[in-house]
Amino acid sequence: MKKSAPEHFNAIAGRYAASEVHAASPTIQRLHELLGPGQLDTVCEIACGPGYLALSFAAKAKRVIGVDAAPNMLRQFEKLAGDRGLKVEAVQALAEKLPLPSNSIDVVVTRLAPHHFSDPTKALQEMARAAKPGGRVAVIDLEGYEDPKLDDLNHELEVLHDPSHVRSYSASRWRDFFDAAGLVIGTFESGHTEMPGGLAVSRWCEIGNTPQASQKMIRAKVAAATAEQISGLGIRFQNDEIYIPVRTLVVVARKD
Ligand SMILES: C[S@@+](CC[C@H](N)C(=O)[O-])C[C@H]1O[C@@H](n2cnc3c(N)ncnc32)[C@H](O)[C@@H]1O
Repeated sequence: MKKSAPEHFNAIAGRYAASEVHAASPTIQRLHELLGPGQLDTVCEIACGPGYLALSFAAKAKRVIGVDAAPNMLRQFEKLAGDRGLKVEAVQALAEKLPLPSNSIDVVVTRLAPHHFSDPTKALQEMARAAKPGGRVAVIDLEGYEDPKLDDLNHELEVLHDPSHVRSYSASRWRDFFDAAGLVIGTFESGHTEMPGGLAVSRWCEIGNTPQASQKMIRAKVAAATAEQISGLGIRFQNDEIYIPVRTLVVVARKD
């Protein structure tokens, strides 16, 4: 039977803690630029995994909370915090049902996770509920494509890599999620990459613990794609390896 996203991630938490894609990225830096330098009381990362984004707020926030449905991910988060001498709060919960008081958090963030949520609309509504009035809600996530055919091919590759992948949403879908959550978008940037130069498919599959057979199918699908699809997906080839861009969007919104 297919594992749920939290079950899948619980089994491979160590791989994500050791992942260079998750440890740092241009979008984490960009998010800090967009949020500005001010000191904060409380920051919470939803679906934090090993919590690298949450930990990047340690110098700015008095309280850093990480929420994730996978207990082994939360153990990785606590360990990384402990290694850095930081105190954090780890909360096991689903993004769609946050056990956080309403109007309590300055900045609620989530990164590389909503594409796994069963109900992203509900999750964003929960993030908005937990944010203080005047607080910010920010999302960094894999970006889907407005062109349905390109979006479907991207989806096939993602599901082969990780069967718990639900959907990478396009920019227009994300605008709808923010509207439905009653949030006012301040910055909406699409077409970012988590890995300048791209991520080798072999490394992508190593991080995701993708079976060899699925990795073969990813390579076959890319080989069968048209030049237009390859260019549309931002795929490049080097020394017999395929590099994917890990395309993301960054959105920062305010709760009125
Ligand atoms: C790819 S990892 C990303 C972790 C982290 N945000 C980062 O950027 O490194 C996705 C995380 O989302 C968590 N997750 C998936 N669905 C979830 C849900 N519905 N509620 C809470 N956590 C969820 C998984 O357990 C996993 O830790």
